Amino acid sequence: SVLIIDFGGQYTHLISRRIRELGAFTIIVPYNRLNDIEINSFKSMILSGSHMSIENFSKESLEKAIDAIRSFNGTVLGICFGLQILSYYFGGKVNHDCGEYGETKVKILKNDPLFKGWNNEEKVWMSHGDCVSKPPQNSEVISVSENGYIAALKLDLNGKVIYGVQFHPEVVHTPKGVILFENFLELSSVERNWRPEIYVNSIIEGLRKEVSDDGKALVAVSGGIDSTVSAIIAKKIFGDRLITAFVDHGLLREGEKEEVIEMLNFLELKPLVIDAEERFLNRLEGISDCEERRRIIGEEFAKIFEEIIEKEGIRYFVQGTTYPDVVESGKTQGSAAVIKSHHNVGGLPDWFKEKVKIIEPLKFLYKDEVRKIGTILGVPETLIKRHPFPGPGLAVRVIGKFSREKLEVAKKSSKIVEDVLKKYGLYEKVWQAFATVGEDKWVGVKGDSRSYGYIVTIRIVESTDGMTANYVRMPYEILDEIVKKITGSIKSVTMVTYAITSKPPSTIEPC
Ligand code: XMP
Repeated sequence: SVLIIDFGGQYTHLISRRIRELGAFTIIVPYNRLNDIEINSFKSMILSGSHMSIENFSKESLEKAIDAIRSFNGTVLGICFGLQILSYYFGGKVNHDCGEYGETKVKILKNDPLFKGWNNEEKVWMSHGDCVSKPPQNSEVISVSENGYIAALKLDLNGKVIYGVQFHPEVVHTPKGVILFENFLELSSVERNWRPEIYVNSIIEGLRKEVSDDGKALVAVSGGIDSTVSAIIAKKIFGDRLITAFVDHGLLREGEKEEVIEMLNFLELKPLVIDAEERFLNRLEGISDCEERRRIIGEEFAKIFEEIIEKEGIRYFVQGTTYPDVVESGKTQGSAAVIKSHHNVGGLPDWFKEKVKIIEPLKFLYKDEVRKIGTILGVPETLIKRHPFPGPGLAVRVIGKFSREKLEVAKKSSKIVEDVLKKYGLYEKVWQAFATVGEDKWVGVKGDSRSYGYIVTIRIVESTDGMTANYVRMPYEILDEIVKKITGSIKSVTMVTYAITSKPPSTIEPC
């Protein structure tokens, strides 16, 4: 498998995703935690980018990382910042103010196995402010950019081959990036036989070792794929000692509660249903700040779990955390900046971990891998294909002051958006499709009277992982149908708009 050393780059998970798609398992370790692992159990190593320059890191911890790289027996590939530290520490120089951003052409200067399948000139994606101004000793520059900067080099470290590239092979804007990774894996003799489906048994075996007694376990299922798959796996470990709780916070999509309960029964996970709508909505009423709403929802969930833990004498708490959350919450110096609070684990208070042992069956997996596992574990297709839905539900789809009235508008209009897309066979082709409601009002004429009503914004986006997204170019006729249904059936709505801003610069959810 491949070790990815994270220096706080925004694309570290993307590197990992690409390598996994090529069938090799990856582990991401922050650069200052290399002591915790047996480095030579990996065949190859990739150094990530960073949003910082070399001087911004503590010298001591970078030197320790370099010592680890020196003692590594396999092949190494440094990407962006990864290239820069290799150059800096092996006798080269790194300069500031020589940035390149976006699509850039590079020339390949040498017929090297890393560039097998590349033409002499190719497009790549650059995103760097610093650059290597003098190559390290015993190295060869194998590619330069159209701006004359070093784009790739190969370093001979006592017979060991080390590569560094200034561009980002992991992003789709480097069209031959995947080929470069394939070449690198081949050079490293990394086996490409990793499949998430085969991994299930080792997850179960590993967890059985973590569970040392016959204590009871609690898993909270939202109806999403992560928590559902975690619950199925947990059932195999805990059997009748597992309590599957489903909390209705009143912020779900229309009809979702009934569907989730039916699915859990089908999966023989007989849920304990907790009707907590009033509890949540009373606390949210009037709150404008979305982060505050997220915090309140997290707190209320924790209270409900605590009540069950106390009452039932629970000793294990099963969570559907996936890999992106685990590494981001490592909070390394230089970890990519947090944009919304949900991107970090830490939703659970500290006391939680003292009361129960946390079990995370999916902590090394990405979402699409969880879907694959879900399929073989018998999760119904409708759930696998269901759009992602935020944990705080419709609470993040109401802009401005939260009210039950606005919640109903968001719920009803979202249902219309979903239904119309399903009617035209478009639902499964898009990443997310929903409606939000804001604070502003628009005057409307209905019959003879003029009155101010809500503005509903429709958001339909395509994406592969939610990190970036494009708005969908919807046919006007379909938008028209959605608009007529919304204004026709929800009296308080007088205007419907369609959001045509992609991510970035927007986010997918309104707040
Ligand atoms: P943004 O809005 O950040 O969303 O572009 C990216 C993806 O994350 C989902 N999302 C959330 N998921 N809790 C969640 O579990 C949240 O608070 C939350 N906010 C956004 C969003 O639906 C999209 O798929």
